[in-house]
Formats: sequence, structure tokens, C-alpha cells
Amino acid sequence: MAQVSLNQLVKSYDGKTNVVDGIDLTVGDGEFVVLVGPSGCGKSTTLRMVAGLEDITGGTITIGDREVNNVPPKDRDIAMVFQSYALYPHMTVYKNMAFGLKLRKMPNSVIDQRVQDAASKLGITHLLDRKPKALSGGQRQRVALGRAIVRDPACFLFDEPLSNLDAKLRAQTRAELKQLHQDLKTTSIYVTHDQEEAMTLGSRVVVMSGGHIQQAGTPLEVYASPNNRFVAGFIGMPPMNFIDGQVTSPDGQPVFEGGGTQLALNKQLATAAQQASTKRVVLGLRPEHFSLQRDASSDAPSIELQVRVVEPLGAMMDVYAELPDGQRILLRTEAQPLGIDRPATFSVAIDKAHLFEQSEYGKNLSTS
Ligand SMILES: Nc1ncnc2c1ncn2[C@@H]1O[C@H](COP(=O)(O)OP(=O)(O)O)[C@@H](O)[C@H]1O
Ligand SMILES: [Mg+2]
Repeated sequence: MAQVSLNQLVKSYDGKTNVVDGIDLTVGDGEFVVLVGPSGCGKSTTLRMVAGLEDITGGTITIGDREVNNVPPKDRDIAMVFQSYALYPHMTVYKNMAFGLKLRKMPNSVIDQRVQDAASKLGITHLLDRKPKALSGGQRQRVALGRAIVRDPACFLFDEPLSNLDAKLRAQTRAELKQLHQDLKTTSIYVTHDQEEAMTLGSRVVVMSGGHIQQAGTPLEVYASPNNRFVAGFIGMPPMNFIDGQVTSPDGQPVFEGGGTQLALNKQLATAAQQASTKRVVLGLRPEHFSLQRDASSDAPSIELQVRVVEPLGAMMDVYAELPDGQRILLRTEAQPLGIDRPATFSVAIDKAHLFEQSEYGKNLSTS
């Protein structure tokens, strides 16, 4: 096992634009770090540079205490698991798993021990004599994992390994992967575009966009205290609602004016608004921070919305509702009867709201 450090890592394919633009990241020994971001933000390129499959344009990569910039992939002591399982079709599962160890001229008895151990951990012992074409997608992914495990590498690299599985199998395999990491504690870097996968798997989540790290933190840190509007909108499902407006204090009490309505703010948000470089700000409210107001005399900040569509989810429901100016927002609340095309008053957990500067990467004024 080992720590992996990326230092001012840069990649340009065309010599003009940097698709990875100065990444600094240290993955601690035994840590499971997930790089997450939209398609094209440079996740796979970063991972492939760690693996040695892609040349580095600038910066350094250290695995353990060794700089590996010029070390060939096979000598980096890493194992990579891809979305396409890349199994050898003419070999049995056993041979697929043993292949890398045979190349390293390991004694057969050691190879056998490792393959049997890994197969047992992954619950695929009964499949060892089969060829890949006689396996389901989930079983193939397990064999690909087994092939990585038998190597006992310093670090696992995963590039969207669950993308080819259906939703149910993906959730199940995700939990198994987490269990596997809890057992093996091998340093892991995992790439996905799926924020839910990132949140559920990562001991730390690194949100990327445009070749940059936007924020790195525990799943709950990036969820509760996003650095900027991009992170706030990317992490969390359904996504955060953003309402443009401004903060005023008509009667000495701070309110947010936007969406054709007003919402009472707390002191912290009022102070945050004063740090904005312009008067215009963006209020960020997560769908799960609304609840139907039953008691009209409640003094919690509230907002009246026109209910348009209700999607039952079982214990919860999603409510698509309109602000007075017609802007749509999405609320997720406890399931309960609600009239369609009628107004309803919702309490807002204002302590969980955020104010951002008004741009795609506008900084979070309420956490700074
Ligand atoms: N081999 C390549 N040659 C040229 N451009 C590439 C190559 N691989 C990736 N890119 C470009 O680099 C950017 C980052 O790609 P990638 O790292 O694959 O993103 P992600 O994995 O986050 O979706 C994209 O704009 C992509 O088109
Ligand atoms: Mg990719």
C-alpha cells in the first residue's frame, strides 16, 4: 500500500489547451478517493497519467516514495479496472486472473493461492472454469476486479467500472466494492461522472470541472458546504434550486427578494450577502430542505408556491412547483396529500440555504 501524490499535474493533448490544468492531490495510504465531474472534465486523463498510460505534460506523480513520471506502467505497482472489463475471451476465469502473475513468473503454488483467495472474496469460485462469454455482466466485472486483487498492488485505479451494469446490479456491486475496500484497505482512486456513486463510495470526493479541482472533501462536506455554485449544483440529487435575486432589509429585517417573492433570511446569510461584490446574488435551496407548512402560525421562514406536478416516491414525494414569477423549483418532502394547480405554503430550512455570487462558478458567500 502507498500514498499517491499529484503535484501541479498538467496534460495537454494538442499543446494548446490543458485538459488537466494543475491538479494538486494527495491520496493517503488506504484512502478511497473518488474523482467526480461531468464528461470531459479530465478525470480519465488524470487516472491514465497515474497509471502511466498517458504522458505527463507537466508536474509530478509520486507513488509511495518514488516519483514515477518516467516509470513504465507495468513497474508502477498499480492495478487498473476499466468500464470495459477487458478480459481475454479464450481464457477461463482462472487463467484470466492468473495471467498477470504468470507474466511476473510467480511460482504456481503462490498464484493458485492468490486466485483462490480472491475468487472466494468475490464469490466467484464456482465460475473459475468458465470462459467470459458464459458470464453475466456483473460476473465479468467481478473477474476484472479479481484480476486486480491478485496482484496485491500499492494502488487500485478504477475508471467508471460500474457503468455497464443495470441500476440494481450497480447499487449491489457498489456496496460490494465498498466492503472490499474496508477489508483490503488498498489505496484507491475511483473515477465516475455519477455524483451518487461518488458520495456513497468515497472516503473523500474530489469534484472536478474544466481540468481543475473545484473542491475536495468528505461526501458530507461537499454536500453541506459547497465551495461554489458549480459544486452545489453538481453534488446532490435532485439538484439544488437556484433563484436569482438580491438581499434587502425593508423593515430592518434581512430578506431575499427573488422569484417574485420574499423570504426571510437569518443573520448568517444577511452577513454573507454583504460580502458579495455585486448586489445581485443567487439563493441556493436543496429540494429536501422544504417541508409542507401545516401550522399557519409557525414563524419559520416560508414561501408560497403553486403546485404543478407531484411524483410519489413511496415515503417521499417530489413536487414541481412555481414561484410567483413562474420559475419552477423542485421540492422533495414527506409524502402527503397535496392539491394540484393550487397554492401551498412550504417552510424553508433557512439555516441550510446558501448564497452564491452570480456566475457558473460563483463563490459560496455563506461558507467563506
Ligand atoms: N487521446 C486523446 N486525444 C485528444 N484529446 C483527448 C484524448 N483523450 C481525451 N481527450 C480530451 O480531453 C478532455 C478530457 O477527457 P477525459 O479525461 O476523457 O474526460 P472525462 O474522463 O472526465 O470524461 C476531453 O475534452 C477529451 O475530448
Ligand atoms: Mg472518462
